[in-house]
Amino acid sequence: MATDELAPLRSGAPEDRGAYAGVLRLYELAKRAEWQVRDLPWSELPPVPESAGSPQKAARRMDIWRSVVTQQLQADELAVEMATQLFSIAPDPEAKLYYTTMVQDEARHTEAWLRLSEAAGGRAERDPYLDQLAHMTLEADTLEEKVFLMQVFYERLIISRFRMIARGARGTVLADLCNRLTVDDGIHHRAGMAYERVLLEHADERTRARLVEAANRMLPVFVKHALWRPKAREVVGRLMRETDIRMLHEDIETGVRNAESLGLDVSGIDLAF
Ligand SMILES: [Fe+2]
Ligand SMILES: [Fe+2]
Repeated sequence: MATDELAPLRSGAPEDRGAYAGVLRLYELAKRAEWQVRDLPWSELPPVPESAGSPQKAARRMDIWRSVVTQQLQADELAVEMATQLFSIAPDPEAKLYYTTMVQDEARHTEAWLRLSEAAGGRAERDPYLDQLAHMTLEADTLEEKVFLMQVFYERLIISRFRMIARGARGTVLADLCNRLTVDDGIHHRAGMAYERVLLEHADERTRARLVEAANRMLPVFVKHALWRPKAREVVGRLMRETDIRMLHEDIETGVRNAESLGLDVSGIDLAF
């Protein structure tokens, strides 16, 4: 691509395209990290952990895993919509190029979850807070807010959940998938940080203040999402609550540090719980 084809399209975009080097690096990294659904160990490992014990106990365990898979399927279905929106509205050619990889990643994640969900016996209850989080992002007014909510916050906060699922589901397709998603969402998050940094370079105070307001709207819903358990997991949910809350605190603190490293005044962020 000739350099003059990369002329800034966004008003206030930096003249120096070197500012986008970080975004382009993440594009290269995303291409190298690309995998296929057929690479998952479908024929070697069980889809989700198998349970010894009585048929009733096995059925209850299967309900739990089905609901775990459903929640992640729902998350990645919504991620396809959000990534597609970012791809279509990002005016900077470097970011658009990067988002082609994210749209493909989220679609591939959904493909894997759909197959896993079928293997685990179909879908379970929908997480209402996840729908709310997605709508907040899809309906946010500015690109800065959308990148901030999805990539700076959500995709970073979700990584520890993937690690937790992988630990609880060793030796399954589910664990293998979660390990891949840890890598992919790590890249999505880093790309969002790199792009948000460019977007905010010349942003006015109003735009910056709006991001803090957006974080304050999002965090309480994220907390509800992280602590939400469908009927199938209510008992496990109660047992896990303390661990969940500790993890949430750590994750949200990391999110706030990330926001701070983007030059935002985070003193106005309400830690929500
Ligand atoms: Fe994803
Ligand atoms: Fe993602």
